Amino acid sequence: MTTIEPMPHSSFAQIPRGMELLDSPLLNKGTAFGDEERTAFRLHGLLPPHIETLDEQAVRAYEAFDRKTDDLERHIYLRALQDTNEVLFYRLLLEHIAEMMPLVYTPTVALACEQFSHIYRRPRGLFISYPLRDSIPALLRSRPNKEVDVIVVTDGERILGIGDQGAGGLGIPIGKLSLYTLIGGIHPERTLPIVLDVGTNNAERLSDPEYLGWRHERITGQDYFDFVDRFVQAVKQELPSTCLQWEDFATPHARPILQKYRDQLLTFNDDIQGTSAVALGAILGAVKVTGKGVQDQHIVMFGAGSAGIGVADGLREAMKEEGLSEPEARSSFWVIDSGGLLHTGRKDLTPEQSVYAQPESRLSGWPRTSNGQVGLADVIQKIEATILIGLSTVGGAFSEPIVREMARKAERPVIFPLSNPTAQSEAKAEDLIHWTDGRALVATGSPFPPVSYGGRKIPIAQCNNVYIFPAMGLGVVASRARSITEPMLLAAARALGANSPALKDPSASLLPPLTEIRRATSEIAVVVGIEAQKDGVAPKFSEEELRRRVAKTQWTPAYASVPNEEKYR
Ligand code: NAI
Repeated sequence: MTTIEPMPHSSFAQIPRGMELLDSPLLNKGTAFGDEERTAFRLHGLLPPHIETLDEQAVRAYEAFDRKTDDLERHIYLRALQDTNEVLFYRLLLEHIAEMMPLVYTPTVALACEQFSHIYRRPRGLFISYPLRDSIPALLRSRPNKEVDVIVVTDGERILGIGDQGAGGLGIPIGKLSLYTLIGGIHPERTLPIVLDVGTNNAERLSDPEYLGWRHERITGQDYFDFVDRFVQAVKQELPSTCLQWEDFATPHARPILQKYRDQLLTFNDDIQGTSAVALGAILGAVKVTGKGVQDQHIVMFGAGSAGIGVADGLREAMKEEGLSEPEARSSFWVIDSGGLLHTGRKDLTPEQSVYAQPESRLSGWPRTSNGQVGLADVIQKIEATILIGLSTVGGAFSEPIVREMARKAERPVIFPLSNPTAQSEAKAEDLIHWTDGRALVATGSPFPPVSYGGRKIPIAQCNNVYIFPAMGLGVVASRARSITEPMLLAAARALGANSPALKDPSASLLPPLTEIRRATSEIAVVVGIEAQKDGVAPKFSEEELRRRVAKTQWTPAYASVPNEEKYR
C-alpha cells in the first residue's frame, strides 16, 4: 500500500506532542512511530522501545481481536481501536473485510445500538438533541473536523429490524461512515455521524437508569418536522456542499423528508434509494449474463410494496433507455401483491401500483381463484417469464413447481428471492440451483452459502447496500456534485451490473466479492460523476480528470509521512 499525503492541516508545528499526539486517533501511529518521530514529538518513554510496522501492528491487533469471545465484544474492541488509531483500524478491516464488516455494521451494530449507553466510552459524532434546538448551528460548529464530505444522520426511530433506539441509534451513522471510508475511501477525518435525539418511545430505554439520551417521549407532528428543518437549514449554512445521507428514519418521516430536501441540497436516503439501486444493479448484471437486453425481459415481481415498486420503477426506466415506449415497458411487468396480480379491474391499487396494472383484456380465459385473484403459479404458467423477483416477505413462495415451470421456458431464468430475513426469503438458493439444473441466475436479500452443483461451487450474490452508498459518496465528492438525481442512482445500478464477475466467469457471483469491492466502487463512482455532469449538477471535467479525482479522493489506510522532516534533524 502507498503512503498517503500528509494531512492538509498538520504542518509540523500543528502536530500535538506527547500524550496529546497518542490520543489523536487520526495522527496516532502507536508503536509504529519511528525513532526520529519519537524524538521530535516527545514520545520516548511513552511507548515501548520496539518499533513496529503497520503490518506487524495489524497482526498483533488481529490476535487481540481473536481472543474476544462474542460479537459484541469484537465490536467493542474494533470501535476502541477506531478511537485510538484510525489507520490501523481501517488496515485491519481491509485485511479481514468479510469477517469484520458484519461486526462493524449489520448485523452486530444492532446489538451495539441496543447496548449503546452501556458500552459508551468516547465521544464520536454529534448529538443534536431537541432541548438544544435553538443552537443547532453552534452545535454543528463544535464538530471535531472542519471539512466534512459526508454526514450520516439518523433519528434512531427505525434502527435495522429492532425499531426505536433513541440516542443509541448513533451507532448506525458511526458504523455506516466506517464503510464509506473502508469501501468508498472517504477520508475518515471528513465524515460526521449525527443523531437527532428527539426522544424515544422505547419503554425499556426510558426506564434504563443508564440511558444516555434525552429522556422524553418522541417529538411528533409539526414540531418534529420543524426540528428537522432547523437541522437542514443549519447544515445548508455551515456545510453547504456536504453530502447528507438520511438513515433509518421511520417510513412516514423518511419519504416526506427526502421529497422536501432532495432538490435543496446534496442528499439521499439510502434505505429508499440505495436499496433499490443495489437490487436493480444485480438484476441488470444478471440480464447481461443472459446475453439479452433488459428490453427483452418479461418480469414477474412478487410483492408490490415500497421495495417491489421501487425496483420495478428502476427497471422500467432502464427499459425506456433501451428504446421501449412507456406502454411497452409497462406491459412487460406482471406484478403481484397479497390481492393477486395487479390488473385494471382492481379498485384497491395505489397510484404507484396502478402503473403496473395489466389490462383485464389480456387476462381473458386465465384461471382465477374463487375470490377472482390471479396467483403467482397462474402467471408463471401463462407467460414466458424471464425474471422472477421476490419482495413480498412470504418465505418459500417460490415453490418447486413454479420454479421448474419457469426454468422449462427460460434458458437462464433470473430468480431473486430478495426478502429479509432468511426465514422470509421466497426460496433457498440451493433449491433454486437444483430445481433449475444449475441454470438459474440467483441473488438473494439474506446471505446464503455457496451451492455445490455439478462439480461447481456457485457463490450466491447478496444484494447489500454497500455496493452502492460508498460509491455514491465517492462519486459526488470527487465530481463536486450539488445534488443526487435519479439518473445518477440508475447509472450507479448499471455500473454495478457491468461489474458483475459472472459476465466473465459463468460460475462466479453476480456481484463482486468483498475483496474486489473497492475497485468496483471507484468504477461506479466515475460513472456517478459522469451522470452528474450530464444532469447539470456537477462542473464539467473530462472523464480522465474525473478518474484522477476519484483516485485522489480515495483514502487508503497507511501512515502519513510527517511534514517538514528536516525540522527534526
Ligand atoms: P412492504 O410491506 O411494503 O411490501 C410487501 C409486499 O408484499 C406488499 O405488496 C404485499 O401485498 C405483498 N405480499 C404480502 N403477502 C403476500 C402474498 N401472500 N402474496 C403476494 N404478495 C404478498 O415491504 P417492503 O418494504 O416492500 O419490503 C419487502 C421485503 O423486501 C422485505 O423483506 C425487505 O426486507 C425486503 N427488501 C430487500 C431488499 C434487498 O435488496 N435485498 C431491498 C428492499 C427490501
